[in-house]
Amino acid sequence: MPKRIDHVAIIVHNIEQALAFYQDTLGIRPGEIKEVPTEQVRIAFLPLGGHGGSEIELIEPTAPDSSLSRFLEKRGEGLHHICLEVENIDATLAEMQEKGVPVLDKQPRIAAGGRAIFIHPKGTNGVLLELLEKIP
Ligand code: CO
Repeated sequence: MPKRIDHVAIIVHNIEQALAFYQDTLGIRPGEIKEVPTEQVRIAFLPLGGHGGSEIELIEPTAPDSSLSRFLEKRGEGLHHICLEVENIDATLAEMQEKGVPVLDKQPRIAAGGRAIFIHPKGTNGVLLELLEKIP
């Protein structure tokens, strides 16, 4: 069973511009903005609640032909995915496959903070869902 909400990810056109609200207006101090070339994105995490808290993740696609860019173009800025932390991602993946859940990964992928799998929105009532085992 998932333990907690790890992060909620919002897709944006421009992280600096999004920080005008999330940092300057709302007052959440972001971690550093990271370029992730393998995923063709820039990301920034905005932590809330200290240790054991959760985060908002801002995602900015950097390649015009990526699936994230197409998502942004088609749907505009907004919620991209929700991430729940699990204890054991390998066991969770096996369990999801066994239950016929539409998992997008054949094996866990390396994600920010750990190893993760994604579940298609058609299996989750409309929200892309990330399940993450954190690596300390
Ligand atoms: Co995520």
